[in-house]
Amino acid sequence: MQKKQIDDIIKDIQIASLERQADRNAFIEQFRIKYLGRKGIVSELFEQFKTVPSEEKREMGQALNMLKTTVINKIEEFKNSIEETEQQAGAIDLTMPTDYSTVGSRHVLSVVMNEIIDIFSRIGFTVAESVEIEDDWHLFSALNFPHDHPARDMQDTFFVEKEEGKQEVALRTHTSSVQVRVMEHNKPPIRIIAPGRVFRNEAISARAHCIFHQVEALYVDKKVSFADLKQTLLYFAKEMFGEQTQIRLRPSYFPFTEPSAEMDISCNICGGKGCNICKGTGWLEILGCGMVDPNVLEACGIDSKEYSGFALGMGVERMAMLKYQIRDLRLYFENDLRFLRQFDALV
Ligand code: DAH
Repeated sequence: MQKKQIDDIIKDIQIASLERQADRNAFIEQFRIKYLGRKGIVSELFEQFKTVPSEEKREMGQALNMLKTTVINKIEEFKNSIEETEQQAGAIDLTMPTDYSTVGSRHVLSVVMNEIIDIFSRIGFTVAESVEIEDDWHLFSALNFPHDHPARDMQDTFFVEKEEGKQEVALRTHTSSVQVRVMEHNKPPIRIIAPGRVFRNEAISARAHCIFHQVEALYVDKKVSFADLKQTLLYFAKEMFGEQTQIRLRPSYFPFTEPSAEMDISCNICGGKGCNICKGTGWLEILGCGMVDPNVLEACGIDSKEYSGFALGMGVERMAMLKYQIRDLRLYFENDLRFLRQFDALV
């Protein structure tokens, strides 16, 4: 029996590991039997110890005892590590019901915007998108705005470039500019809706904001009439606010439509009897509309003798206000979760 032989066995034991063992308990048991079993390595060495010359007995005895404690400690270490992993696994009870975790939801303005898009897409309108920074031509001139129209004033419009002799560039004040872009690049029949952000130079209050959203609709084809517009409006109002909804049209003025009208719906709160939402009138103002002015068609390269069209535009914030009785425009942009969570259930 050599001391070196015992030292090597001790080294083997020290590097033994449970890692990669599929059945750790079985491995520990085999390990125990291999070293401490009745016919195991340790008892065999103790057997041989009897024949060790007496002058080597001291050194060999110490080495053998060292071997034995190393095995015992290793087995202890293995058992502890198994216990630890079991405790960790026990801390995660996979059968427990999960915590209620908050998932994000759509903003109420997106919900309402998508609903408007949906209603129009069911009757063949497709979505058109365009730039938010627009030039004078698409914002005003092509839409038949007279030169001295107040919308062209700094008071109402955020200008990006306003230099003498150069075309003015501004944040779009309405989505009607998308009409122009679509008509310039497409031949009738045209049937689009343009949802998007618009910007106006307004002081922020419960009733006004400098950023808001509009949806514009445009239909141009041969023989489009005011009757088509009325029917489309009635369809939209009923889909958006319920089957019982009635509409009325009041004559109005917009530079880009002739004739122009504003549409009211019967108040969806009091059913038309009169309440403080409709200020006792029984009606709520919803949108602007009209027959596309022939000047606009011509400015966009469409023959106004062959084609006619209707257009309409509405504010998304106002639609949501009326649908969900939201009293203050600022709530939309403040991101207060107490407000936003009220609309969690909407898709
Ligand atoms: N552009 C108008 C606005 O911002 C809304 C509007 C009114 C759009 C009448 C239209 C329309 O297409 O025909 O107030």
